[in-house]
Amino acid sequence: MKHNIIFTLFAAYVLSSCASSNKSTIDAKLDHKVDSVLKLMTLDEKIGQMVLYTSDWDITGPTLKSDYLDDIRKGNCGNIFNAHTAAYTRKLQKIAVEESRLGIPLLFGYDVIHGHKTIFPISLGESASWDIAAIEKSARVSAIEAAASGINWTFAPMCDISVEPRWGRVSEGAGEDPYLGSKIAAARVHGFQGNDLADSLTILSCVKHFAAYGAPLAGRDYNTVDMSQRVFLDIYLPPYKAAIDAGAMSVMTSFNEYDGVPATGSKYLLTDLLRDQLGFKGFVVTDYTSINEIVNHGVVSNEADAGLMAIKAGVDMDMQGEVYFKYLKKQVEDGEIPQKTINDAVKRILRVKFMLGLFDDPYKYCNEAREKRLIYAPEHLEAALDVAKKSMVLLKNDSNVLPLKKGEKIAIIGELATSTRDLLGSWKAAGDWDFMKSTLDELKTYNGEANVLFAEGCKKFGEDRSGFAAAIAVANRADKIVMVIGEDWEWSGEAASRTSINIPGVQTELLEKLKALNKPIVLVLMNGRPLDLSKENELADAILETWYAGTMGGKAITQVLFGEYNPSGKLTMTFPRNLGQVPIFYYEKNTGRPLYLENPKYKSRYIDSPNDPLFPFGFGLSYTTFAYSDIKLSTNELTEKGEIKASVNVTNTGGVAGEEVVQCYVRDLVGSVTRPVKQLKGFEKIALKAGESKVITFTIKPEMLAFHRLDMSYGTEPGDFKLFIGGNSRDVKEVGFKL
Ligand code: BGC
Repeated sequence: MKHNIIFTLFAAYVLSSCASSNKSTIDAKLDHKVDSVLKLMTLDEKIGQMVLYTSDWDITGPTLKSDYLDDIRKGNCGNIFNAHTAAYTRKLQKIAVEESRLGIPLLFGYDVIHGHKTIFPISLGESASWDIAAIEKSARVSAIEAAASGINWTFAPMCDISVEPRWGRVSEGAGEDPYLGSKIAAARVHGFQGNDLADSLTILSCVKHFAAYGAPLAGRDYNTVDMSQRVFLDIYLPPYKAAIDAGAMSVMTSFNEYDGVPATGSKYLLTDLLRDQLGFKGFVVTDYTSINEIVNHGVVSNEADAGLMAIKAGVDMDMQGEVYFKYLKKQVEDGEIPQKTINDAVKRILRVKFMLGLFDDPYKYCNEAREKRLIYAPEHLEAALDVAKKSMVLLKNDSNVLPLKKGEKIAIIGELATSTRDLLGSWKAAGDWDFMKSTLDELKTYNGEANVLFAEGCKKFGEDRSGFAAAIAVANRADKIVMVIGEDWEWSGEAASRTSINIPGVQTELLEKLKALNKPIVLVLMNGRPLDLSKENELADAILETWYAGTMGGKAITQVLFGEYNPSGKLTMTFPRNLGQVPIFYYEKNTGRPLYLENPKYKSRYIDSPNDPLFPFGFGLSYTTFAYSDIKLSTNELTEKGEIKASVNVTNTGGVAGEEVVQCYVRDLVGSVTRPVKQLKGFEKIALKAGESKVITFTIKPEMLAFHRLDMSYGTEPGDFKLFIGGNSRDVKEVGFKL
């Protein structure tokens, strides 16, 4: 093996450094190591560290570059994404370490969003579990498998709040709420990064898409974002901040503009806010070619200027755009960019490479034996099954149609019942659908072939009704009908916005026909966004929202349908009655003419639809029922340094054990600026046996009531508040208190 300069120098350095637990000493040592590498680098090599190219293994956007191997060799490319497996990443790492002049190891990035090989439910689905420990476990397992496959960097968590079901990327997020979104963002970072980035079973996480990407006008992906700074800071920023506070060491910019400036060129976002105010210490990478796209946004007229704007804004690494590669060198030589700016960016990147331990062992993620042992490990599949069951939301269950009883004859209808690919959803990383079983197969295994009849009936989309008759015939022979319907997996995720949020094609038409048979109908939904289910809600007796439930999805659906697992998921995005209500979210403002006013006409309402959604935020049923006592407060006056303990007694009033997500909301009645009618401030997921009761207590502290006040300062305001506790954002007990 060729011993390059870096490794010889670095080995000597490591030997001479003594262990210390003091953080500032560790930081100083790290900086010293980084500087020792930086001073060996030419300007070309520095710029090489500032670029990221896709491999040709898995392509997630337009490709501009073909010979990335040669770029690695020449020191022109310090980072690769979309390459995986221990063997392939070893091959590329070997080129970087043994054939480039300095031998600086590569970062290997990949979109490990909800699993690497073992795929968990899509992120929106996971969020519906409200089970923070299970979500962290999902990220942990994803990191273990990805790290075993050569990956050391995931482009997750996606922290974009969204109230836009038309936007396909809501499937990748944690829904509409900043409080829940923050808890989940932090859990994912902990799951990916563990306690130690240098552990070879952890990977670097990347907070994305910074910022406000989840609010494109009209839900059209990449479209303009236009929101007040107050809304941005109070609603959209918290999950990114939580992920950064949790230790995420990289941040990805977003495609959208913020306040008229493309995010990738926004000094306000990337330096003033991210580094100066939030204290972010890692590096910033662009989204896919988003420097180049600054030209299309129309704030510069050419790519060179786009590059200038990005580097001045605080972008350290150019994903796939080749702008830094093409223009930075000359711009530095011409004095347009100070050397220091380049050095700072490179230092931030090298620092993370050191933290990952890549200079100690660049092949630490490329162990084929470990890869073989860990990919699809039984405990990973078990974890995926667990989260999949917990993510499912029972939206309706009239006359206790569910759970199904073993031995009951069921007719399974719908193309999605047979699909394995759809179960994986978008961003399935290296997930393999040949490895897994469809929902239909799992149902057959569970309930016996003879008791599971099947007819496709119709496709996921399109107008073909030729299968209707066969579906009706099959349904006629069954005790109950289970229709598996929804959206094709490609209808959510990136570049998958819709102008309709109805169930596509003729699936609902077939449901109408089946309804005429007068048999109990269960709908199993597979989709990546809130849908308009008004019609389906009238036709079906039971509705189970299963999202795209991952590698173990078919089994999870089966176990929930048959009551092996009692559903406990709760919606994290409001499901509207119709698209006209969008955007609709629970933390709306009261307005000057709220609906409860007596006036029949002149108030904030629709003339053709109720205001309230079909299924509110936080909603989800169980095979049992829960009763809430009135709320008891330890005091109804909250002092500046004090706290209020708010308790309710929750009882399982049904016949089976179940889990409930107890939710606590607050309303600030009078503020210097208008305040939302409710804001989630706490939740606890509890398990209760039939008949069992538990007292659940939330602690309210003044800082939980802070917001950006009229003068944009952040803090609380004294006055009257309401506190609500319940099993969803609509059905709550309420009590007042003062601050
Ligand atoms: C997406 C990012 C993703 C990146 C790399 C982009 O198109 O917006 O979320 O991480 O591609 O695959």
